[in-house]
Amino acid sequence: MVHQGSNGHGLPPFEPYRVKCVERLRMTTRAEREELLARAGLNLFRVPAEGVLVDLLTDSGTGAMSDEQWSALMRGDESYAGARSWTRFEAAVRDLTGYEHVIPTHQGRAAEYLLFSALVRPGDVVPSNTHFDTTRANVEARGATAIDLPCPEAADTRSRYPFKGDVDLARLEACLAEHAGQVPLAILTVTNNALGGHPASLANVRTAQRLCRRAGVPLVLDACRFAENVGLLRERDPEYAGRPPREIARELFGLADGCTMSAKKDGLAHIGGFLALRDGALAEEIRRRMVVTEGFPTYGGLAGRDLEAIAQGLVEVLDEDYLAHRLDTVRRMGARLEAHGIPIVRPAGGHAVFLDAGRFLPHVPPAQFPGQALAIELYLEGGLRTCEVGSLLHGARGRPPHELLRLAIPRRTYTWSHLEYAVKVVARVWRRRRSIGGVAIEEAPEVLRHFSARFSRLAPAPAARPAAARGS
Ligand code: F0G
Repeated sequence: MVHQGSNGHGLPPFEPYRVKCVERLRMTTRAEREELLARAGLNLFRVPAEGVLVDLLTDSGTGAMSDEQWSALMRGDESYAGARSWTRFEAAVRDLTGYEHVIPTHQGRAAEYLLFSALVRPGDVVPSNTHFDTTRANVEARGATAIDLPCPEAADTRSRYPFKGDVDLARLEACLAEHAGQVPLAILTVTNNALGGHPASLANVRTAQRLCRRAGVPLVLDACRFAENVGLLRERDPEYAGRPPREIARELFGLADGCTMSAKKDGLAHIGGFLALRDGALAEEIRRRMVVTEGFPTYGGLAGRDLEAIAQGLVEVLDEDYLAHRLDTVRRMGARLEAHGIPIVRPAGGHAVFLDAGRFLPHVPPAQFPGQALAIELYLEGGLRTCEVGSLLHGARGRPPHELLRLAIPRRTYTWSHLEYAVKVVARVWRRRRSIGGVAIEEAPEVLRHFSARFSRLAPAPAARPAAARGS
């Protein structure tokens, strides 16, 4: 479905907001970028943000806040305990999720850490549609095993199956039976970030809930991008077309026993998160523990003003015009790339377009990190910063199913002309793709190597060079 824009007349869609404050972008030349990248060991995480033109590294904490949110900051009550801002935050989260017990955290991974510290024991197994990196790391830090059970349709990047965020129900059922007594919780990541930002269908979540309930296992949502999941449901599932986003969100949260949340995504805030639960005894245990690492349970490592910004963000993110425009932007960007013949993960999801780097650079084997090679070229070509989601990020876990490069779209930050520019940069690199070689790791730490590794560039394999260049 094509978003008609809030003008409602079939005219081209436009941003449902106007600009009140601007941030200067510093232009760079290719020569400058060559130098910055060389100094960074060809790792974009090490490049200063000032050297980036359009930053699509992540959609986390990089969005623009609204005038209402900036105003809310001034209302921040910085009392240590029981601040007014806490009361407002708690009410906003309860009203959205229907969960009684709300625990603020400094970001999503802190919510994961607190929850798993209370629930997960060595030898346990935690199934999910797909764990995000930090979720997996927090499960593994407890001596447990994180198992990804994406639906089979997600394996084919070319398929347009609308709900690739679904969990594989047959495998979930088998996992719950095989590891009975060892599964402290199951997690559904909505939308599924790692595979393409795809939504889970409510029918799938409902059946997952039934399976979990029968096995006596709590079902927890990793709800970072819940609003995008809701927006995509409205577009792709006729049952939800036209229903108010808030109502669908309530239904989604209603199917689970709690959620972890990074407010840096669909909280429309720069920092923050929360854990929300139905289980009062579990929440009480976590509140007791969190004072040591996160802070008192009515601020959880956040300032009162952050709590205000999130409370307001959770309302704005379910605005129909905002959501329609957000999803339309990602879809249009995907369509523009596909019009050039560029392979992307289909269908475009909620927060990012993922390039299929394996098919973009088929002559670069996974061991030479095609996603990273492509990220380097996009930066040199036009100052784009993107993020590899493939063999580099996967690290010691072996080969991932796909070599991807994520172009994450920060919320309300870039205009369509920035994104059109990004498409043109990708298209230019696409035209000279056969001349691009892979990369080798020069040095890297054992854990989370993608953040700090240094690389060198490899020459393209001779067979991949254009005929004229062969043998020269
Ligand atoms: N879960 C998902 C699905 C995420 O995408 C993230 C963060 C987290 C949990 C952790 O939240 O960063 O607030 O601690 N994703 C960011 C990204 C970093 O770029 O996709 P956090």
